[in-house]
Amino acid sequence: MRFSSSLVAISTAVFANGVTAASNSSLPRVSIIATGGTIAGTNSDSTSTTGYKAGSLGVDALIEAVPALSNISSVSGIQFSNIGSQNMNTSLLLRLTKLATNVAANGSADGIVITHGTDTLEETAMFLDLTYNESLPIAMAAAMRPSTALSADGPFNIYEAVALAGSKEAADRGVMIVLNDRIGSAMYTTKTNTRAVDTFKAAEQGYLGVFNDEVPVFYFEPSRVYKKPFFDVSGVDALPRVDILYGNIDMDVRLLNYSVSSGAEGVVIACAGDASLPDAWADAAQAFTEQGIPVVRASRTGSGYVAPADDTLTSGNFNPQKARILLQLVLNEHGGKNSTLIQEYFDPYLS
Ligand SMILES: *[C@@H]1O[C@H](CO)[C@@H](O)[C@H](O)[C@H]1NC(C)=O
Ligand SMILES: *[C@@H]1O[C@H](CO)[C@@H](O)[C@H](O)[C@H]1NC(C)=O
Ligand SMILES: *[C@@H]1O[C@H](CO)[C@@H](O)[C@H](O)[C@H]1NC(C)=O
Ligand SMILES: *[C@@H]1O[C@H](CO)[C@@H](O)[C@H](O)[C@H]1NC(C)=O
Ligand SMILES: *[C@@H]1O[C@H](CO)[C@@H](O)[C@H](O)[C@H]1NC(C)=O
Ligand SMILES: *[C@@H]1O[C@H](CO)[C@@H](O)[C@H](O)[C@H]1NC(C)=O
Ligand SMILES: *[C@@H]1O[C@H](CO)[C@@H](O)[C@H](O)[C@H]1NC(C)=O
Repeated sequence: MRFSSSLVAISTAVFANGVTAASNSSLPRVSIIATGGTIAGTNSDSTSTTGYKAGSLGVDALIEAVPALSNISSVSGIQFSNIGSQNMNTSLLLRLTKLATNVAANGSADGIVITHGTDTLEETAMFLDLTYNESLPIAMAAAMRPSTALSADGPFNIYEAVALAGSKEAADRGVMIVLNDRIGSAMYTTKTNTRAVDTFKAAEQGYLGVFNDEVPVFYFEPSRVYKKPFFDVSGVDALPRVDILYGNIDMDVRLLNYSVSSGAEGVVIACAGDASLPDAWADAAQAFTEQGIPVVRASRTGSGYVAPADDTLTSGNFNPQKARILLQLVLNEHGGKNSTLIQEYFDPYLS
């Protein structure tokens, strides 16, 4: 096993109730919140990168596997969950943003790293970016190869994420995604390949920066065309249900009616092309939107802007899974009746 063979005791480590600390008071204090995923996954052989068990290593083992962390940071670990990210859900997200806010507010860290599975990383990152209102940066770290694989990518991704979270340049940039030597924005970065280690990309918006060894180098000053909203969910323990339906030829409009009749308060459709819908769907989507069950047309193409329209809501620059997160938060705060108001959240050029 790659992790256990590379375990090196950190002399200053304290292990108590799953909390690890490698302290050096002159270095930035970084709190690592572990949620599970491939980065904590193990397999029975080193040449297989599929069919492994996600979320089997604890946060202590993640930290111990990267002894060089003690040179750049004073890290402490919090085990939040240990799940494959396909099992992430809204109630966990609400707890995770409270935990991160608490760590930032109680002064125990200078930066936060959250380890996560890659499959739904982009949804968690966007949710946190919209619900976490602290200047302390959050760097999300993940891996495409389990810890036991030859050239596992997890340890270096954690190392870079810790360096980023502890760097002054990262402050006020919200939530960032760190894999494969790149820094990606939480709002736009998406997983683009099932297996490749360079899977996280934002085709239109690009990366925020890169690493030169462990030194983060940003390409631009923090600035946004899209004025990022903030949703205070501190007193919230559930969000409205929003479904995603997939567009294709022969798509059956009964699926949309079923979503709504079974309790969805909003629906995102991953439409073909520039978010077009067959006539029957367009009519039903407009009818539901006018009734206060907003239907958001997004695109299944993987990139590109969807402009506002009169019949339904549209997703702007957000892919279907990111549009869903945003719609849940908007519905929770404002309900579904005011389409003009909802559209402003999706559209970077209106506000
Ligand atoms: C703490 O970090 C500083 C700066 O990198 C280094 O000079 C010092 O040796 C470290 N102390 C320990 C105990 O590791
Ligand atoms: C920490 O940095 C020193 C100086 O560059 C290096 O000799 C040492 O191997 C590093 N420690 C680890 C655990 O990587
Ligand atoms: C969310 O996941 C947690 C952890 O697996 C589980 O305990 C909880 O029941 C799930 N919540 C919902 C609403 O599915
Ligand atoms: C800060 O909050 C985190 C998460 O709840 C907790 O683990 C830590 O002990 C707290 N630290 C202080 C100094 O209160
Ligand atoms: C969000 O943070 C900003 C900057 O600290 C602060 O002015 C604002 O009141 C916060 N918003 C909420 C709703 O807490
Ligand atoms: C779906 O719902 C719409 C809007 O309520 C309605 O006009 C339409 O007849 C329904 N279609 C089917 C196939 O049930
Ligand atoms: C709907 O939202 C728009 C944009 O925020 C606002 O100007 C308008 O007054 C709202 N309409 C109602 C009926 O609240």
